[in-house]
Amino acid sequence: MLSMNIERADPNSIKKAADLLRSGKLVAFATETVYGLGGDATNDKAIAEIFATKARPEFNPLIVHVSDAQMAKCFVEWNARAEKLALAFWPGPLTLVLKRTSDCKVSLLASAGGDTLAIRVPANKAAHALLVDAGIPVAAPSANRSGRVSPTTAEHVYAEFGDRLPLILDGGACDVGIESTVVDVSGDEVFLLRPGTITREQLEEVLGGKLSTPDEKTGVLKSPGMLLSHYAPSLPVRLNAVDAREGEALLGFGKNAPHNTVINLSLSGDLKEAAANLFAALRFVDKPELYSAISITPIPDTGIGIAINDRLKRASQT
Ligand code: TXA
Ligand code: MG
Repeated sequence: MLSMNIERADPNSIKKAADLLRSGKLVAFATETVYGLGGDATNDKAIAEIFATKARPEFNPLIVHVSDAQMAKCFVEWNARAEKLALAFWPGPLTLVLKRTSDCKVSLLASAGGDTLAIRVPANKAAHALLVDAGIPVAAPSANRSGRVSPTTAEHVYAEFGDRLPLILDGGACDVGIESTVVDVSGDEVFLLRPGTITREQLEEVLGGKLSTPDEKTGVLKSPGMLLSHYAPSLPVRLNAVDAREGEALLGFGKNAPHNTVINLSLSGDLKEAAANLFAALRFVDKPELYSAISITPIPDTGIGIAINDRLKRASQT
């Protein structure tokens, strides 16, 4: 059943969403990665409302979405590295952390009071149309309650917030399925803050140099969203399973997955497909009335597998 606040993304609903955003209201919308909970990034009240709706700690800054690199340059101190990465990967699932410009109009709340801003240009067509129509920078964290699994369909967003949002723009299931790669290019050293489907190797090739990995302590300071327990279903998650234990729902990967696998993330062993299926699969088996835990077979720790294992590791922390 389609709920009252879910509307298929089309020119009319996109216009309605843009009007809502400009008037300070929140709108959930699809991006190629996950659904975002959007609000006018220049409006303190709208940003405060995002934090309140998600019950997100105020020290965890938000990603601002813009329609193109030109618009990004109004809010952040652009540099040569940002230019290279934007040319190679925008629009797309890459977030750049840069210094705020001195006259940056984006609410300081979106930067959690800091001097940097995370910014990206999403590739999803409806998201792009929405940003063009709205004509404002849109802050949008993943549209889930803080600490929970990110939504990859409009129904997932509804399951998180119900009728609390005036509008959920339904753009179908997200193609990428896990959140954008986050790279800090604000200083001399380039840090990979959050792995995603744009891999370290791809970034290093474009930049012609190595990326640094923040250690656990400074990493959390740099990017508080990387707190260990995150992306968590309500059931406990057990990694590197060889078989399902009593009461467990087993998620598998590849053609050799055990016969009692409930969902195979990719029968052909394709990591891109597994990433696209990951969060929907976790939500599907997160049923305490049916299972006591979720287990998952090993995922190769290379390429996109690194981002999948990063999310799974966080999902398994209690
Ligand atoms: O794919 C995505 O990035 C999705 C879609 C909706 O665009 N958004 C998303 O937002 O995942 P969120 O808020 O769930 O995750 C944002 C991550 C967090 O880990 C946060 O700590 C980090 O980006 N972040 C945001 N601003 C930052 C900043 N100024 N410096 C360092 N990290 C930042
Ligand atoms: Mg999130």
